[in-house]
Amino acid sequence: MSNKKEISRRRTFAIISHPDAGKTTLTEKLLLYGGAIQVAGAVKSNKIKKTATSDWMEIERQRGISVATSVMGFEYKDTMINILDTPGHQDFQEDTFRTLTAADSVIVVIDVAKGVEPQTEKLVKVCRMRKTPVIVFINKLDRPGKDAFELLDELEQKLGLHVTPLSWPVGMGGNFKGVYNIHSKRLNLFQAGSQVVEEVIEFDDLTNPDLENYLGEQAGELREDQELLAGVYPEFEKADYLDSKISPVFFGSALNNFGVKELLDNFIQIAPTPLGRESDLRFVEPEEDSLTGFVFKIHANMDPNHRDRIAFLRVVSGTFKRNTNYLHVRQNRKLKFSSPTAFMAQKKSVVDEVFPGDIVGLHDTGNFKIGDTLTEGEQLHFKGIPSFSPEMFKYIENADPMRSKQLAKGIDQLMDEGVAQLFTGKHTNRKIIGTVGALQFEVIQYRLEHEYNAKCRFEPIRLYKTAWFVSDNKAQLEDFRKRKASQIAVDKEGREVFMADSPYALQTAQDKYTDIRFYFTSEFEG
Ligand code: G4P
Repeated sequence: MSNKKEISRRRTFAIISHPDAGKTTLTEKLLLYGGAIQVAGAVKSNKIKKTATSDWMEIERQRGISVATSVMGFEYKDTMINILDTPGHQDFQEDTFRTLTAADSVIVVIDVAKGVEPQTEKLVKVCRMRKTPVIVFINKLDRPGKDAFELLDELEQKLGLHVTPLSWPVGMGGNFKGVYNIHSKRLNLFQAGSQVVEEVIEFDDLTNPDLENYLGEQAGELREDQELLAGVYPEFEKADYLDSKISPVFFGSALNNFGVKELLDNFIQIAPTPLGRESDLRFVEPEEDSLTGFVFKIHANMDPNHRDRIAFLRVVSGTFKRNTNYLHVRQNRKLKFSSPTAFMAQKKSVVDEVFPGDIVGLHDTGNFKIGDTLTEGEQLHFKGIPSFSPEMFKYIENADPMRSKQLAKGIDQLMDEGVAQLFTGKHTNRKIIGTVGALQFEVIQYRLEHEYNAKCRFEPIRLYKTAWFVSDNKAQLEDFRKRKASQIAVDKEGREVFMADSPYALQTAQDKYTDIRFYFTSEFEG
């Protein structure tokens, strides 16, 4: 039996933003529409405040929240919506990249006063690479900010997106009157406060003098803007958006719940239904009958007495069923799950069936690592969940010789969770931890101690970047290995990496060894 109907009513997406742009507030308002939460303030911000980088409790608190809000499912107008939460803190960027692999589209939140910020740039770059359809929500219109035309330019220049506004603001800050929906030709009038019902007036023809009654002098402004827009921005075509060739832009204020319903109503109409995924064997379509899925996130139990974890599986095709045997492809063994959990309305509940586009939480005793694939027997692996070359490195040493086994196990499991990457010097056998942010070192040390009862110590290493390398030129490869012996390590899968201590060293190696291919993400060559 095909899941066509279930697939067509599902939308799985992530909201991304630079911290403080309003991601949490928007998420919360969206959940209100789904009746998933009753009161505002129920979605806790999962950002680690900048001041709290050394606060262990803050890290723990964040982990507790992030398991609760990793996936938020709700139903709205017969559409099943799965919002995937992404960590706000930039040190957890890699988590966000991985979460994006499980999303079929994204909504980018931009602060009207700040415009495009650095983290938005990085995240959207990844979306563009993956050809993920992007909707932009420009937030905080109740505050003074940048001119709307200027913002659209910024989106194009800094994010490389081709945009077309679907709604347009009339004023902002103290003069904010509302937004005009270009597509449906309706004017939404702004009223501060968390009202759910917006005052919407049809305005097919903006030359109608009635517009002055609503907008006063600003009516002229809106007319002029619309004329300008029509000449510059293309008509919105859903197919172009789905092809990630164009990004529709909406304006509003999440805090005031203004423009959010409009965003949601448009979203469910245009956003992609669950998409298939590329694997090493073939492209897997969601409508296929047999189950496939991949793990994009692993979350350790908060209770140190239970070392079990939750693996988050994105179902790609088929139906995931409780108590059914599935093949864990990497380990080549069958596993079944008695209590798979779904994430609806921020509650976890055991489910019997899970459809493509959905995320299911699997209780795991250490079998999974990020990127693992489950199937009904086919030996395929999903692609597109790479590790990126880390940006910070430290040697990790055992600080309690009596507990080296615990340390090794702890490191192993934390790496499987994707907290950081481990490299082992070929020459020295010393272990090196590579991360994308400084905070991970603290997380590792803390979690090793509290969950594995092991102590570690970090020592500095002068290292600029690691690059995976391969070549068909055996002689060159041998020469490189010999000359750079002290700078070669292996990753957890036993693949060789070059540890360049400076940009110069990397450049000279690339210049000299022209037959060697250097890679900065773990997924290369097939
Ligand atoms: P984030 O998840 O993207 O990091 O942002 P979050 O939603 O936590 O919002 C960051 C701040 O911006 C919050 O204020 C929030 O209330 C505010 N905000 C969000 N949307 C709007 C909006 O449309 N208009 C205005 N004026 N403010 C908005 P805060 O003071 O940092 O936090 P809180 O104490 O209010 O929670």
